Amino acid sequence: MTLEAIRYRPGSLQILNQLLLPHETVYDEIRSVRDGYEAIKSMKVRGAPAIAIVGCLSLAVELRAGMGGNDLVCFIRDSLCHLTSARPTAVNMGRAARELMEFTENESMEKNTGRVKSSSCVIGWIEEMLERDVNDNKKIGNYGAQHILSGVPRDSVTILTHCNTGSLATAGYGTALGVVRSLHALSRLKRLYCTETRPYNQGARLTAYESVAEGFPATLITDSMAALAMREKGITAVVVGADRVVANGDTANKVGTYQLAIAAKHHGVPFYVAAPSTSCDLSLESGRDIVIEERPAEELTSINGVPVAAPGIDVWNPAFDVTPHQLITGGIITELGVFLPSELQAALTGRLTAL
Ligand code: MRU
Repeated sequence: MTLEAIRYRPGSLQILNQLLLPHETVYDEIRSVRDGYEAIKSMKVRGAPAIAIVGCLSLAVELRAGMGGNDLVCFIRDSLCHLTSARPTAVNMGRAARELMEFTENESMEKNTGRVKSSSCVIGWIEEMLERDVNDNKKIGNYGAQHILSGVPRDSVTILTHCNTGSLATAGYGTALGVVRSLHALSRLKRLYCTETRPYNQGARLTAYESVAEGFPATLITDSMAALAMREKGITAVVVGADRVVANGDTANKVGTYQLAIAAKHHGVPFYVAAPSTSCDLSLESGRDIVIEERPAEELTSINGVPVAAPGIDVWNPAFDVTPHQLITGGIITELGVFLPSELQAALTGRLTAL
């Protein structure tokens, strides 16, 4: 069984409201770019690929309803700009916006009108995103599983992951959790350890939920137990997702990833980043250039609306951190293959192919 975070049929978009999981399964209707922006900002939908897909599909829904009038190019540009501002660290929405804008402008130039006469080509481009993402994730799952298993020819493996990178964070299958899914399908997954992922608890609420639903042998730990798990539980590899991988391989992902990579290095555990090429941003040289989103203090001071911190305390709540490429020792798993951080640029620009 695979969970469905995004339900789309031409003209209608529904998202599984992840704020209510794991206790309630409610699909919210997204009727406009405004609804899409709100769902992304409030994290009803989250995960870098899902943010981009829902953002763009919210635009497709409006275009199908005839919005945009006489100046479609302008309407599309403004909508994409607004959607991109909702969450700045994940590059997927910004990248999709740039590519879609290029496509839209080419269409309007080809027709030599300065305008896109019909929105159908733009809608078609957007609707293909769902299928592309699932296909890419399946390749990531397969490449990642083979790479990890090549280091342990006969054994089953124990994986540690962080945050949620599964069907809920993508169009389906997942990235890091897709690797876990592939290992499970091969009957080679001994156990998955998933971190709670404070402050927002994507691990406890979402990865645990997906793991139970999919029947993965899985154990939940707090973030502060990860180093101990590496020492005591025979972790074969750490596999995490990414919100942005830049040219030198530095990777922004859910806050807490950096300390996992340090602990993995100390324990000699290979550390992998699983990400589609749509999460890569070769325009930035190093992780220092990545803008890190800061989220409201309430995510730390309360859980599900129940206060847990002393009133009056100051709070710092960066949603992501950057793992330096030197700590990504296993490799970066993409739909093109598994690459060392130093090989990534060549791989993404077609100068290097996977073995
Ligand atoms: O704040 P979130 O829940 O959107 O953060 C999600 C992550 O950090 C994921 O690891 C990343 O987006 C990859 S999802 C395939």
